[in-house]
Amino acid sequence: MGLGVFKVEEGAELVEAVKAAVNHGYRSIDTAAVYANETSVGQGIREALAETGLKREDLFVTSKVWNADLGYESTLAAYETSLKKLDLDYLDLYLIHWPVAGKYKDAWRALEKLYKDGRVKAIGVSNFQVHHLEDLMKDAEIIPVVDQVEFHPLLNQKELRDFTMKHNIQLEAWSPLMQGGLLGHPLLKEIADKYGKSIAQVILRWDLQHGVITIPKSTKEQRIVENASLFDFELSLKIWIGSTVLMKIAEWVLTQTTSISKPGLMMSSTQMDRVYSIHQLFNEVAHEFVFRKIHGLFCIVEIFKLK
Ligand SMILES: NC(=O)c1ccc[n+]([C@@H]2O[C@H](COP(=O)([O-])OP(=O)(O)OC[C@H]3O[C@@H](n4cnc5c(N)ncnc54)[C@H](OP(=O)(O)O)[C@@H]3O)[C@@H](O)[C@H]2O)c1
Repeated sequence: MGLGVFKVEEGAELVEAVKAAVNHGYRSIDTAAVYANETSVGQGIREALAETGLKREDLFVTSKVWNADLGYESTLAAYETSLKKLDLDYLDLYLIHWPVAGKYKDAWRALEKLYKDGRVKAIGVSNFQVHHLEDLMKDAEIIPVVDQVEFHPLLNQKELRDFTMKHNIQLEAWSPLMQGGLLGHPLLKEIADKYGKSIAQVILRWDLQHGVITIPKSTKEQRIVENASLFDFELSLKIWIGSTVLMKIAEWVLTQTTSISKPGLMMSSTQMDRVYSIHQLFNEVAHEFVFRKIHGLFCIVEIFKLK
């Protein structure tokens, strides 16, 4: 897992957040040219290395080439600009931020050159769906190592997950907490209470158990620590499947009542409210029923396994 820094401006708050993360065990930081904060990320990294005695190679730094710079020469130049702002000699991972039609293949050739020249440790993409990956891979010499996409319990990217797993591409979750939008979710609260954990921790653990790298953003030290405290519990299949089924049902109900087929950040607040009320409804009425059924099924499976 790593620290995200989207929407954090250059300045002391960002420098302190990066330092706090490294001090508390984070080794991966995710930024992008368009976040316009690479200078402070670089400063945070340098100060953290000095404080901890860690070496540059102990950290994993990611940045992304923005849409306006997609192209062969322009992407090569954008990489140099990012390195200069970060004041680093190399990046561990450089991503194409968005799959802009007609542009991402030239940008990918540039990333391949950077990789072959040893300027970057790994190259990947972001916001690529299956058809983008298929198209890119037709001409690519190097398969992307990472695809960073919006991923959280209301957008579980099943088709993309199956595809990336098959092609050995690591999925990475952006906005894992739906920019904080999932943190009041009643069903997730119920699950979190069962584990004595916060909703954020349950979601981030859910990412890891799906084999997805997660990069929650926080500038608050206490939350930075909380978000990385994920390794002393495991979501059980029973509760996990129970919740996934409920989410699926809620998503299905949503698609029946609105034209939006994939819930996520693009939803309006009215649609979001509808998802919440659907979840509340399930919580109050159907949750017990569905959960008990699934629980019952698992009990039966476990009894048979014992015999
Ligand atoms: N590739 C892409 O197109 C793309 C797009 C979006 C994001 N990203 C990357 O993904 C990273 C994460 O996504 P995100 O920043 O959009 O959203 P996020 O990580 O889902 O949520 C961040 C929000 O949740 C709050 N938060 C974090 N931990 C919390 C906790 N334990 N308890 C309560 N609130 C908490 C943060 O507030 P505080 O800071 O006040 O704690 C912030 O408002 C970004 O920072 C960026 O690096 C990539």
